[in-house]
Amino acid sequence: MRTQVGIVGAGPAGLMLSHLLHLAGIESVVLECRSRQYIEDRVRAGVLEQGTVDLLIETGVGERLQREGLRHDGVWFSFGGRRRHIGFPELTGGSGIVVYAQQEVVKDLVQARVAAGGQIVFEVEELSVHDLDSKLPKIRYKKDGVAQELICDFIAGCDGFHGITRPSVPAGVIAVYERIYPFAWLGILAEAAPTSDELVYTYHERGFALFSMRSQQVTRLYLQCTPDEDLSQWPDDRIWEELCKRLSTQDGWAPGVGPVLQKGVTGMRSFVIEPMQYGRLFLAGDAAHIVPPTGAKGLNLAVSDVRVLSQALEAFYKSGREDLLGQYSANCLRRIWKVQRFSWWMTSMLHLFPGADGFDHRRQLAELDYVTSSRAGMTTVAENYVGLPLD
Ligand code: FAD
Ligand code: DHB
Repeated sequence: MRTQVGIVGAGPAGLMLSHLLHLAGIESVVLECRSRQYIEDRVRAGVLEQGTVDLLIETGVGERLQREGLRHDGVWFSFGGRRRHIGFPELTGGSGIVVYAQQEVVKDLVQARVAAGGQIVFEVEELSVHDLDSKLPKIRYKKDGVAQELICDFIAGCDGFHGITRPSVPAGVIAVYERIYPFAWLGILAEAAPTSDELVYTYHERGFALFSMRSQQVTRLYLQCTPDEDLSQWPDDRIWEELCKRLSTQDGWAPGVGPVLQKGVTGMRSFVIEPMQYGRLFLAGDAAHIVPPTGAKGLNLAVSDVRVLSQALEAFYKSGREDLLGQYSANCLRRIWKVQRFSWWMTSMLHLFPGADGFDHRRQLAELDYVTSSRAGMTTVAENYVGLPLD
């Protein structure tokens, strides 16, 4: 088989890249190790930046998002038992966010690719990449037990943090910059009507908690836990008790309680590789970087990477230009490091660190007081949260 761009991974990065390339008249094949049902059911992110929303709408995959997504014009920060609001449009020239589950974005993109005759091969096995430094890199894999080879002009490694494309780059080419945090998030989806129209990020002596939602009937909640937290120690009653302790505020606000539909533990790390390219392999999304989830940025960064990559590939195919491909990594990394900084800062401000003392506690409260009362502080939160402008 032969294609122009071979894409490994059908997450938001791989699917969006395939969609953007199709709109630019460039052919691609997406290879995914999981089933269609698995990727369409996987519960993950939920916050879309203004730029992500605009791109999905502009490229014709935003119809359901516009109907079912929940537009938010602000966010709450809760600390010392009180909530403070930061409004987005007035601080950012009209921008906001939309809460729309990642698996819904994935469903919309899969449907658009299938409707346009795009090729997504699910449940591939033993995938490997070859001849990355040649003009004809190859992807080998098995489908239904039969060995296949896909010859490409370029390969996009969109296979997430645990994928195989990044480890396929020869040793010494890539530098890794990393922080691992001494805590994780226990996340649940609950059948309970949201009691707040907007997200609530909470700093509490017992640890961080986050109130989010998916629809008028479903709440999404997270609480800080240990990295090796054993979920069997967390029956639903204990989760609710802890969430209520951390989230409830003095004015009587509390999350609505209901049956738990799903639960899981997410580790937290900051991770960036440089460069994001080797020969004709280009890495995008979680394959190249991870942010801690506190800033709600992972999915959005995946989308901004592939926007840059699709433009560089379009310039190559339309006018033979290779300069944008050569600048891909540097162009992406400028945004990635700003987003890393924001995600690290939100994480540091809102979590309880092991060994933290009264000084740390008072410093964190003062920081939260500052960023939720000064216009400059609120603008910093708002412009980063809705998404920085593209360069
Ligand atoms: P993935 O979504 O990981 O996709 C990679 C794909 O590659 C997968 O489908 C995988 O099955 C496939 N694959 C892997 N290995 C192979 C292989 N060898 N061969 C073939 N296919 C392979 N981000 C936000 O922006 N906002 C949020 O609110 C947010 N909240 C989050 C909450 C949680 C609990 C978690 C876990 C993450 C959250 N994120 C959030 C992060 C976000 O989910 C990721 O950043 C996003 O999924 C990255 O997309 P991707 O396409 O790069 O990678
Ligand atoms: C959600 C996840 C996040 O990581 C975040 O910062 C905000 C919201 C969510 O799943 O809704």
